[in-house]
Amino acid sequence: MPETLLKEQIGRVVILTINRPDKMNALNQQVRDEMLELLDEIAIDDSVGVVVLTGAGEKAFIAGADIGEFKGRSPFDQRQAMRSPRIFDVMSSFPKPVIAMINGFCLGGGCELAISCDLRVASDKARFGQPEINLGLIPGGGGTQRLPRLVGPGHAMRMILTGDMIGAAEAKEIGLVEMVVPADELRDQTLELAAKIAAKSPLTLKVAKQAVRASQRLAIEEGILYERDLFCLCFSTEDKQEGVAAFLEKRPAEWKGR
Ligand code: COA
Repeated sequence: MPETLLKEQIGRVVILTINRPDKMNALNQQVRDEMLELLDEIAIDDSVGVVVLTGAGEKAFIAGADIGEFKGRSPFDQRQAMRSPRIFDVMSSFPKPVIAMINGFCLGGGCELAISCDLRVASDKARFGQPEINLGLIPGGGGTQRLPRLVGPGHAMRMILTGDMIGAAEAKEIGLVEMVVPADELRDQTLELAAKIAAKSPLTLKVAKQAVRASQRLAIEEGILYERDLFCLCFSTEDKQEGVAAFLEKRPAEWKGR
């Protein structure tokens, strides 16, 4: 059993909670290793449709990498700590939708992990930032690459060069989060969104996610062709037959995930 993570399942939704509230849920090696192991299990668990990632306590989602681990580290030690697979990449290519439920400080590697998720729901008390510049560092969890793709190079540059924090309203304004809700409604509203998505065909969700993710790496012409092929691939699934039949017969669809 993991020591730094809590796993709770409600219907087809799994909530993964990083449980180091006294350290603002900072990502140390143990958290990263345990998260990789748990995500491996969840990826092939058919009872799970959607994953919600959050941090324990009232104050922080994740306040970044554990800065204590950086002290005295050589570049070689650091390169070893950054070996693949990395949680950011695993999260961004995860076969099931992942929602970041952002309950507080969302900084550095925490912000990068949230960006690696598919959707972000934030409490109105959440604060966001890439403060690595204040440590003589740059973002190392994909922040220089994924953040500009999400919010545009200007906003990313401002966050990365100043290290300043922004509030939830501004995060929504620049497209860093998709929803901001009152802190006391964060869990309910996030779980409602997660349950809505988890009720769709898991197979079709996977294909839809794969297509949207591809838009981040493919030129538009290639992306459109890729979408066409995936769309046609859906015609081979039982869930497409069922979805179309259910619509025409005016009844709810019963997904098989096949
Ligand atoms: N790594 C390791 N420990 C961290 C941490 C991090 N990224 N962020 C917070 N902590 C620890 C603090 O050292 C402190 O531990 P202690 O009680 O043993 O001294 C505890 O969490 C509480 O943090 P504290 O700074 O006392 O709370 P605060 O409310 O005054 O400030 C933050 C909260 C998040 C603004 C502040 O902790 C902070 O700036 N953290 C670092 C953020 C950062 O630079 N992240 C990028 C890392 S690359």
